[in-house]
Amino acid sequence: MQNFDSAAAGERATRYDRFTITLHWLTAGLVLALFGTAQIWDFAARGTPMRLGLISLHVSLGILLAAVLLLRIVWRLLTHRRVAPAVSGLQHVASTLVHLILYVLMVAQVSYGLLIRWASANAPDFFGLFSIPALVVVDPATRRVIGELHSVTAWLIIAVAGLHAAAALVHHYVLRDQVLARMVPTRG
Ligand code: HEM
Ligand code: HEM
Repeated sequence: MQNFDSAAAGERATRYDRFTITLHWLTAGLVLALFGTAQIWDFAARGTPMRLGLISLHVSLGILLAAVLLLRIVWRLLTHRRVAPAVSGLQHVASTLVHLILYVLMVAQVSYGLLIRWASANAPDFFGLFSIPALVVVDPATRRVIGELHSVTAWLIIAVAGLHAAAALVHHYVLRDQVLARMVPTRG
C-alpha cells in the first residue's frame, strides 16, 4: 500500500503518516479521559482528596492535550497537502467541516480550561513539574461565564466526535472503503 513517504516523491499518499495517526489517537484518548474525569469527580463531595486529585489530573491531561493539539495543527499545516482526500464532493466538504469544527472546539476548550485556572489562586499545573503562569487577569464574573462555556463545549465535543466516529465506522463496516483504515496504524 502506498504510504506517506512515497508521497514525498510527488504523488499524494492514500493514508495518513504515522505521526498524524499517533497524534489523532492520543487526542481521542485525552478528550475521553478529560470528559471522564469531570464526570467522575461530580460524584465526589467538594474538597475531598478524590475530587481534588481528579481535578488536578484533569488539568495536567488538559495541558498535555494543549501541547498535542498545537503540535498537530502545526504538523497538519505543514503536511496536509501530501494526503489525498478519501472522499469527494459533498462528503468531502462535510467531513472537512466536521474536522474543522473539532479543531475549533478543542482550541476553545483548552483556552477556557486555562482561563478557569488563571481565575483561581492556583495556576494550571502539569503533574507537579511546572505550572503555566497567568497571561491574563480573569475576574470572578467572567470566570463563571467561562465555566459555563467549558461545560457546554465539553458536551459539544463529545457529540461532534461521536458523530465523526460513527461516520468512520459506517465507512468501514457499511461502505467498506479505506476511510477508517487510513487512520489506523499498520505494522512494519
Ligand atoms: C477536550 C478537553 C476538555 C474537556 C472535554 C473538559 C471537560 C470538562 C468538564 C465536563 C468540566 C466540568 C464542568 C462543569 O460541570 O461545570 C470541566 C471542568 C474543568 N476543566 Fe476541563 N475539559 C477539557 C480541557 C481542559 C483543560 C485543557 C483544562 C486546563 C488546562 C481544563 C481545566 C478545567 C478546570 C480547572 C475545571 C473546573 C474544575 C472545578 O470544578 O474546579 N479542562 N472540564
Ligand atoms: C474525541 C475523539 C476524536 C477527535 C477529537 C477526532 C478528531 C479528528 C480530526 C480533527 C480529524 C481530521 C484530521 C486531519 O487534520 O486531516 C480526524 C480524522 C479522522 N478520524 Fe477522528 N477524532 C476522534 C475520534 C475518532 C474515532 C473514535 C474514530 C474511529 C472510530 C476516528 C476516525 C477518524 C478517521 C478515519 C479520520 C480520517 C478521515 C479522513 O480520512 O478524512 N476518529 N479526527
